Amino acid sequence: MNMSAVPARVTKTNTVVSFRGIEKSYGAFQAVAALSLDIRQGELVCLLGPSGCGKTTTLRMLAGFVEPSAGEIWLDEDNVTRVPAYRRDVGIVFQNYALFPHMTVAKNVEYGLVNINMPKAARQARIAEVLRRVELQHLADRYPRALSGGQQQRVALARALALQPKVLLLDEPFSNLDAQLRVRLREELSSLIRGLDMTTLFVTHDQEEALTLADRIVVMNKGAVEQIGTPEEIYDSPQTRFVAEFIGTCSLLEGRVDEGGDFLSERGLRFPVARRPGAATAIIRPEYVRHAAEAPGAPVHRAVVETSEYMGAATRLQLRVGDARLLMDGRYAPGRRPRAGDEIDIVIDPTGVRFVTDGN
Ligand SMILES: Nc1ncnc2c1ncn2[C@@H]1O[C@H](COP(=O)(O)OP(=O)(O)O)[C@@H](O)[C@H]1O
Ligand SMILES: [Mg+2]
Repeated sequence: MNMSAVPARVTKTNTVVSFRGIEKSYGAFQAVAALSLDIRQGELVCLLGPSGCGKTTTLRMLAGFVEPSAGEIWLDEDNVTRVPAYRRDVGIVFQNYALFPHMTVAKNVEYGLVNINMPKAARQARIAEVLRRVELQHLADRYPRALSGGQQQRVALARALALQPKVLLLDEPFSNLDAQLRVRLREELSSLIRGLDMTTLFVTHDQEEALTLADRIVVMNKGAVEQIGTPEEIYDSPQTRFVAEFIGTCSLLEGRVDEGGDFLSERGLRFPVARRPGAATAIIRPEYVRHAAEAPGAPVHRAVVETSEYMGAATRLQLRVGDARLLMDGRYAPGRRPRAGDEIDIVIDPTGVRFVTDGN
């Protein structure tokens, strides 16, 4: 292959959004602390964390509705920290859609285009294009009250996309919708956003939504960033106790790694690990605890089933091993599910043991 034929890409920077040491305080209360984050062109980043952790505040600072107490926000090549919201070139979709009830779908989408003085013919073309994108052409003349929740959400999205913003901001856009619709809409949204190569900041408290949608997840807790990583990194290698417990389910075991390479929990559970000696907090996801018969060779632990919770595809067992507690997900044929009080032999898959670095 002739490498000289590959064009040198003229990318000054690939970064569209840059939070640089952003903070927001209300009096003595710090809603957002020391946030630094770059979002690349076309990247979908999720802010994930419990209610009150500072997600919306962060999004509103990027939109220009909330002024940071410290730090800078850059959009493309511009420091927009003091630029008013209406000049920032961001598109926003809120949780409650915020559609104008007295305007048709087309008029709702047109509203922002009139505001930027786009000529009528260009407006009509743009409206048709975005409504086609979100598959609402046929509903252009409907009023919001005659639309389903999911359709209203798509109008809100079309309205934001019509302005061709540099970045799309979505704040819990699916939280008013039922579970099934939420899953469908998030698939639609994902393919739409990726088809447009739209840079997106998505706020949610729903870990499943973040794991399925995001290129990268920013896990927030009490205003601070706990971890930034791909969904795989966040789930598979949580760096803090908070991340381990907030995303997915896990057993947390305090203890230490001895000179022989065994982890020994304070409650007496012992298993081999690949880690240097010293105090440690081990994390074990329930899918890495198995029946001894399925994984010959590993040290076997006798466990008592405390609870057995049927979850459809899997059954979650809460086990007691000596004084230690351990969660396990198993799959069983009908009628074969362990019950509370049963004793079973289990092994801990050493490839599934992780350690968090805080708190020890
Ligand atoms: N205008 C305000 N004045 C005082 N406190 C605020 C204000 N806005 C948000 N907060 C507080 O900041 C924290 C973060 O809020 P928010 O960003 O809305 O959280 P989230 O979106 O993650 O649920 C909350 O404790 C909230 O009460
Ligand atoms: Mg919020």
